[in-house]
Amino acid sequence: MLDVRPIGIEDYTERCSKPLSELHDKLWVETYAKTHSPGMMVGPVEGQFLKMLATITGARRILEIGMFTGYSTLAWAEALPKDGRVVTCEINPQTTEIAKRYFAESLHGHKIEIKLGPALNSLKLVDGIFDLCFIDADKENYGAYYDRCMELVRPRGLIVLDNMLRGGRVLDPQDRGTKAIDELNKRIRKDPRVENVLLPMRDGIMLVRKL
Ligand SMILES: C[S@@+](CC[C@H](N)C(=O)[O-])C[C@H]1O[C@@H](n2cnc3c(N)ncnc32)[C@H](O)[C@@H]1O
Repeated sequence: MLDVRPIGIEDYTERCSKPLSELHDKLWVETYAKTHSPGMMVGPVEGQFLKMLATITGARRILEIGMFTGYSTLAWAEALPKDGRVVTCEINPQTTEIAKRYFAESLHGHKIEIKLGPALNSLKLVDGIFDLCFIDADKENYGAYYDRCMELVRPRGLIVLDNMLRGGRVLDPQDRGTKAIDELNKRIRKDPRVENVLLPMRDGIMLVRKL
């Protein structure tokens, strides 16, 4: 999707959006220095978008699947009230160690609960109800994550799914991950329990509102 946009437009959207916290900037630099796939972070504009979703929906309890080094997690936590909670699932202990240091430094870190291990296992043990769920982990399991989030999110709550365009590959899905995402996009469109919109922002953000 990005290649059909004028060069520089992503940077322009960043320059015209309020920045996230200084802690986010520090985390960004460390993630680029110490991990193999820093591009997995949602980045400043999507991070601000997610934060705003939490604020305008008045979310108090958020479930995140795919924490990585905690960039999006911090954005959620900053948007929550003092007694709010983000429960976040992550399988990678190394990136979790980085995230934990930043959560300890943040004024909002006490709102974050990490579930380390395969998300499908962690999700069996998680109790609802959540106002908002964010799916941003292994693509083959997105369908199962969506089904579990539908059980855990409250009526009129929101499910947000990232990378729903797979860099444009959904138009001709070949790999397993992209096929899974394409099937889920079509399944959500037909799901009578929800309303939804697929936004072409970044790599595609699906917003799903449970009726
Ligand atoms: C795209 S990254 C998440 C990025 C994060 N939301 C951010 O903004 O920085 C996806 C993460 O999902 C994690 N992951 C992959 N498979 C997983 C699984 N089965 N259970 C839990 N986490 C998983 C990866 O280790 C990776 O850190």
